[in-house]
Amino acid sequence: NAPLLVAPSILSADFARLGEEVAAIDAAGADWIHLDVMDGHFVPNISFGPAVIKALRSHSRLPFDVHLMIEPCDPYLQAFAEAGADHIVIHIEGGPHVHRSLQTIRALGKKAGVAICPATPASALSEILDLVDIVLVMTVNPGFGGQKFLQSQFGKIREILSMIEKSGRAIRIGVDGGVDRDTAPMAIEAGADFLVAGSAVYGQDDYAAAISALRSASQG
Ligand code: DX5
Ligand code: ZN
Repeated sequence: NAPLLVAPSILSADFARLGEEVAAIDAAGADWIHLDVMDGHFVPNISFGPAVIKALRSHSRLPFDVHLMIEPCDPYLQAFAEAGADHIVIHIEGGPHVHRSLQTIRALGKKAGVAICPATPASALSEILDLVDIVLVMTVNPGFGGQKFLQSQFGKIREILSMIEKSGRAIRIGVDGGVDRDTAPMAIEAGADFLVAGSAVYGQDDYAAAISALRSASQG
């Protein structure tokens, strides 16, 4: 089993000091930096785009895990790649040609990820699993930080894990939304091997303690 990774989401950081906030979670032991891009169309909130990601790139060497909650995504994939994204995660619900978008991400030389909303069944992933390196199971309806973890998604995490195992490919499976020290152990138990957490890291005074509390959830 792959070691558990923790990917703090800067959505809950202090936006007036984003560069420092990225450097701070790097120093605090984060594995990836999760960047939530929202367009006010696919989700009911607007966050930031490639220019902000580009400006943050020099503040950490950690992989930038860019979660695109935008529709369409195709016109912007190259801009996010050039801004410094290492992983580009798109939504399975984000349009009729997700297969093509994933091919584009790979052609740009980036790791390709697919995120899946609470209302979408695991089976929606069956025809694109061979094109992805990362599956991100949303445990809230995307759009905002600080929402409550949807325990109804556990069965889907298990189902996706078994699809991944059958594929024989090294695909990472993560959870995003409402992850904290109480819900992390259950998500890991269901099969998650990385955790995205916004408020459970940036909402705390001690980022290193917050990250290690999430990490230790995998030790039961
Ligand atoms: C939700 C975003 C999440 C969000 C998580 O739409 O995709 O990454 O920042 O925030 P918390 O951990 O506070 O639920
Ligand atoms: Zn996210």
